[in-house]
Amino acid sequence: MRSPFKTYQWKSNKFACQSNDIEHFRAMFDEEIMRLDMQKKELGSVYEHPIAIYRNEHIDADLPSVLICAGFHGEEAAANWGMLDFISQLQTSVFQSVNLSLLPLVNPTGFIKGYRCNKKGQNPNRGFEFINGQSKASDITSDEGLILLKYAKFLQTISKDGVLTCHEDILQNETYIYSFEPRPSPGKFSLSMRDKLTEFFPLITDQDIDGLWPTEGIIFNHFDTSFEAFLVRSGSRVGVCSETPALADFDQRIAANSALMQTFVNYIIANH
Ligand code: NI
Repeated sequence: MRSPFKTYQWKSNKFACQSNDIEHFRAMFDEEIMRLDMQKKELGSVYEHPIAIYRNEHIDADLPSVLICAGFHGEEAAANWGMLDFISQLQTSVFQSVNLSLLPLVNPTGFIKGYRCNKKGQNPNRGFEFINGQSKASDITSDEGLILLKYAKFLQTISKDGVLTCHEDILQNETYIYSFEPRPSPGKFSLSMRDKLTEFFPLITDQDIDGLWPTEGIIFNHFDTSFEAFLVRSGSRVGVCSETPALADFDQRIAANSALMQTFVNYIIANH
């Protein structure tokens, strides 16, 4: 059972800091954003910590538009550092092939403490309702969720060709994904995302995840009130929520998240 306020911290040898060092993370992230000439769009703030989206400057309507997210849960820090590692390997030429949007840190108060929920104990990845074509909050929507829902139309536009949200499973040695595709069973997209992660970790074997049973490492088209399910329900063509195993080495988890983001972008570009 996950506890919302149990704290986790790791040391990254690659970045020479602790996993919850938000100043170091932001400074290095901003440096890469400047190098790539990406634009920052602040959506709001929680306890004076901004929640922002970063996009390439010149949006081309003929190119696919994808959104990559990290940091809904504060103790899943390899996702955030993985995004930093991913963008540090990008060149601006990639923007000739894709409109890329990044949401690097949804839950800053959780990240700083290294615990799952936000400071109020709310789960930032629940409470995204989509009813009769309308996005709606519910009584469990977090402060962060309310900020994102305020920009629902914008988020739907920038994720129309795909969304990847990177999570970690604090209880696991093994990896799995949630995936969404408009078909009855997992297709090439889901399989290629899963297979990328298995280059880094063993695939989950026979066990249930909060009452769901992955089939060959994939929980397919499970529509709950998570952010990724919300975006797919409201129009995003494909989606993945990845789960790297937090019992594995931290730098290995960073490398896996980085590689997965690259695989995701490559797939969308190649199949547009
Ligand atoms: Ni999570």
